[in-house]
Amino acid sequence: MTLSAREAHARKVAPKVDGVLPVFHERWSPRSFAEKEVSRETLKKIFEAVRWTASAHNEQPWRFLVGLRGTETWEKIYASLMESNQKWAAKAPVLILAVAANKFEHGDRPNRFAFYDLGSAVAHLTLQASALGLGTHQMAGYDTEKARGLLAIPEDYVMGAAIALGYQDEPEKLDDPAMIERETMTRERKHLAEFVFGSWGEGMGI
Ligand SMILES: Cc1cc2nc3c(=O)[nH]c(=O)nc-3n(C[C@H](O)[C@H](O)[C@H](O)COP(=O)(O)O)c2cc1C
Repeated sequence: MTLSAREAHARKVAPKVDGVLPVFHERWSPRSFAEKEVSRETLKKIFEAVRWTASAHNEQPWRFLVGLRGTETWEKIYASLMESNQKWAAKAPVLILAVAANKFEHGDRPNRFAFYDLGSAVAHLTLQASALGLGTHQMAGYDTEKARGLLAIPEDYVMGAAIALGYQDEPEKLDDPAMIERETMTRERKHLAEFVFGSWGEGMGI
């Protein structure tokens, strides 16, 4: 069955819950990206949302390397991806590498919440991108040490996810039946009782 990008998106949107900001239900991780540039103005808005992420001691340990398609940075991030991710990420107009400083700027002490804060920052990124009509797809599937070497990322930065960013395209453009199926199936999640506890392991009845 051929679905338009809009129809595929509609399948992915989670059921609405009154009072929950729509963007939380509308964000999902596409693999089919349109060959349409993302403007610098749009990128600026996304990173402005990232900027206001909370962090331990307001350390703001996140750093983002942003590769626009056609640049060396894009090529280097792409070259670090696992083949299974390269297959669909090739069309992404933007590839981003998210890393975090693992020491505090002052005092040289380890910041054990740096990775936690980086995850929060990436959540801001994905939600703001979604609010602007863009898709994001995070990837653990890349060679972190290859990326570190190619992009000259210092040792005291911990490697987070690679992220594909761009406008969603039709599932059919993926040209691979298994990927097309994943692009159109509905998303599933645990029930609240499985992760919101009143006492350990017991749902709190919400
Ligand atoms: C840290 C992280 C790593 C991920 N790594 C990959 C990856 O290497 N390849 C991939 O196709 N998807 C990857 N994903 C996407 C997840 O599979 C996806 O977020 C999850 O299935 C939930 O789907 P949704 O984002 O559409 O709600 C990753 C997501 C996260 C947050």
